[in-house]
Amino acid sequence: MKTLDIAVIPGDGIGKEVVPEALRVLDAIEQVHGGLKFNYTHYPWSCEYYIETGKMMPDDGLEQLSSFDAIFLGAVGDPTLVPDHVSLGGLLLKIRRGFEQVINVRPAKMLKGLVSPLRDPKDFDIMIVRENSEGEYSSIGGRVHSGMDEVVVQNAVFTKKGVSRVMEYGFDIAGKRGGHLTSATKSNGIAHSMPFWDEVFKEMAENYPDIRTRSEHIDALSAFFVTKPETLDVVVASNLFGDILSDIGAAIMGSIGIAPAGNINLNGKFPSMFEPVHGSAPDIYGKGIANPIGQIWTAKMMLDHLGEMEMGAIVLAAIEETLESGIKTGDIGGSSNTAEVTDAIIASIQKHAQ
Ligand code: NAD
Ligand code: IPM
Ligand code: MN
Repeated sequence: MKTLDIAVIPGDGIGKEVVPEALRVLDAIEQVHGGLKFNYTHYPWSCEYYIETGKMMPDDGLEQLSSFDAIFLGAVGDPTLVPDHVSLGGLLLKIRRGFEQVINVRPAKMLKGLVSPLRDPKDFDIMIVRENSEGEYSSIGGRVHSGMDEVVVQNAVFTKKGVSRVMEYGFDIAGKRGGHLTSATKSNGIAHSMPFWDEVFKEMAENYPDIRTRSEHIDALSAFFVTKPETLDVVVASNLFGDILSDIGAAIMGSIGIAPAGNINLNGKFPSMFEPVHGSAPDIYGKGIANPIGQIWTAKMMLDHLGEMEMGAIVLAAIEETLESGIKTGDIGGSSNTAEVTDAIIASIQKHAQ
């Protein structure tokens, strides 16, 4: 029996609704596999936890998480209770940084049965490789003066190590997919970081002579995601550019409620963390209508990461079969609720296992 220790953090809002649904799918995977056991430890870390304790997670939170095989997270953020920069900085970003999850991989591709909002969507299959530890998300900066004299400085940090490793990851994935790599830049407007980004990209490309490369400014690239996504393959981007591109990627698939993500630790010292691209969606929380597919596809990415690719493929096939059968939540044009979609995915997994 292969046992995998998973830390589960549902977090806030619909995170608390979709995480249990994805765990039901993983239960079905356990049954189908026969030799696989998930050993879950649940953590209540969230904005409510902050209200009770004054912290998003305990001081030794990272230590508690450090020996798991993976972390499965829902979403963090309830601005009615805790300002976002405090809640996200105290939990999600703390884990990403503390566990050196320096890469964030986020697929955006046409799934069978999904209706893209694009008028004439060609069959696109994009893999966004987002830098996940530095860039525009630095905590370096500050405020001086007050009133109309107030000045705020927010520094972006780009290290040779950080930029090289995210690009290397992008090149490697492009190589494995037999595809090409597009770099998101803005070197026409941003004077230091982006010319450096381009320089490293050119330098790295020399090590990968067989991989076709493109460099596009982020504004134009955002438009290409909408007008010709089929011309893109792997896209490597800085932290903020990758964040924005992944919501566009989710939107052209059909909904932000679908898109999955993996925060990857490359050096094997710490667990990687899997969480959907979407947030806690306070506007729909409590209604039972959240799309569980983002969280369930995220579970598929976690299975792949843990060496269970065959099980991962079964989950994705079940998601597609469910979509094709018309069992969908409202955000993608259906009228089913969260549990009904999960039930259909589980039924599909069980049907194919027989
Ligand atoms: P959001 O992703 O929560 O919601 C944006 C829109 O998409 C909303 O209309 C929402 O209803 C819809 N949506 C999102 N997920 C859905 C799903 N599974 N099914 C159906 N519809 C879905 O983004 P936001 O409104 O900018 O942020 C809300 C809170 O979540 C904030 O506190 C924000 O900081 C936080 N957030 C957290 C994460 C994370 O933990 N990874 C990511 C993004 C935002
Ligand atoms: C995401 C989210 C986070 C990010 C926020 C909530 C800090 O938008 O995971 O995409 O910007 O990384
Ligand atoms: Mn985001």
